[in-house]
Amino acid sequence: MKHLVTAGLFSAMIAAGSMMPINAFADETMDNATVQNRQMLMDGIGGAMGTLGCYLKGDCNLPDPVLRNLANGIAFAADAAPAAFEPKTMDATVKTTATDKVWSDWDDFAGRFPELKEAALAMAAAAGDKSAMGAAMGNLGKSCKGCHETYRSK
Ligand code: HEC
Repeated sequence: MKHLVTAGLFSAMIAAGSMMPINAFADETMDNATVQNRQMLMDGIGGAMGTLGCYLKGDCNLPDPVLRNLANGIAFAADAAPAAFEPKTMDATVKTTATDKVWSDWDDFAGRFPELKEAALAMAAAAGDKSAMGAAMGNLGKSCKGCHETYRSK
């Protein structure tokens, strides 16, 4: 979150023309940080999904509060995601699998995160009830897959 704020300040300074000599370098550094930030957010979601899946398969025995925290963590990340994805990152040199549609279809893209959050909150409410959790897992999985199909390249 911190470097998103910094990125905003930086853009304002560049717009004001005060930092022209390091402009290109600053753009690349900032864009790389932005890409890595949103990927870490997604990896956190992925990790929580993996652990919830492990529980549902019966491979990990976890207490209800832990399950609830994992699901709430996904909801929190879903809330933070639009701000993490909003800056365009054309100067990034690190690998990204985000397609240009993220920004050209922004309203549809960003509108999927509240659905992800809703599915995550349903999972949190179901913590410990395996059949309700299974249904919530199905909805979560649909949310990931639906977005990745359109907005992520292989
Ligand atoms: C609204 C769209 C959207 C939703 C919903 C979504 N993702 Fe993503 N996800 C993306 C995009 C776009 C990327 C590519 C980010 C990049 O590489 O810059 C991504 C990347 C990832 C990555 C790879 C991160 C990396 O290090 O490169 C993982 C893991 C991931 N998502 C897991 C999930 C899981 C699990 C869910 C569902 C619980 C989910 N995502 C829901 C859009 C979404």
